[in-house]
Amino acid sequence: MVLSERGRSKIDTGDDEAFYDSPRLVTHADDAFLTRLTELYAAVLSPGDRVFDAMSSWVSHLPERPFDRVVGHGLNEAELRENDALTEWFVQDFNSDQSLPLADDSFDAVLCALSVQYLQYPERTFAEFARTLDSDGVLVVTFTNRMFPTKAVRAWRAASMDERAALVESYCRAAGLTVTDVVREQPGQDPFYAVVAEKSA
Ligand SMILES: C[S@@+](CC[C@H](N)C(=O)[O-])C[C@H]1O[C@@H](n2cnc3c(N)ncnc32)[C@H](O)[C@@H]1O
Repeated sequence: MVLSERGRSKIDTGDDEAFYDSPRLVTHADDAFLTRLTELYAAVLSPGDRVFDAMSSWVSHLPERPFDRVVGHGLNEAELRENDALTEWFVQDFNSDQSLPLADDSFDAVLCALSVQYLQYPERTFAEFARTLDSDGVLVVTFTNRMFPTKAVRAWRAASMDERAALVESYCRAAGLTVTDVVREQPGQDPFYAVVAEKSA
């Protein structure tokens, strides 16, 4: 296990679905971060890709591409319904159940933007991301220094940005993925960090 029991604890131990009960139709980083995120997705994704946007919301930050399938997941149904990029979606609390209702090897890309800090069981969740990725699939995890602090795990709250990147790298490795790139940039006010990992590398 990558996280200790203490490291995966949160200040707010209440139900995550209840916390996300009301839709938040806001963005969770500044425009420069979101533009950089779309650029990174454009560099990694190809037309026709099958994409799983895990821990999504009302926007997916995807570039204009004809994707074959874009499956969204989140905690708030109203937010996901607003998300035009998604061809289908489901609601699931990953801190209660990490098994994804998705077939093995069925995605070219799994995306997780601005959300990894809320995972209390990242080892099992990332193992599921890896299972659903096709043999040449890619996982893109992005984050900044903003968060809902009461819902982020202790290991994340206590860490520097570089330590957070190292933590995400360790989640990838624990799931058998190979980290191929770690991006650390400052496009605007919010630092832009990305960990890119592949199944086959
Ligand atoms: C800050 S928002 C980021 C949303 C979106 N990825 C974006 O870039 O705008 C955090 C998201 O994490 C997801 N999330 C938080 N806690 C979760 C949990 N316990 N299980 C599953 N998803 C969770 C929710 O979908 C929530 O919308």
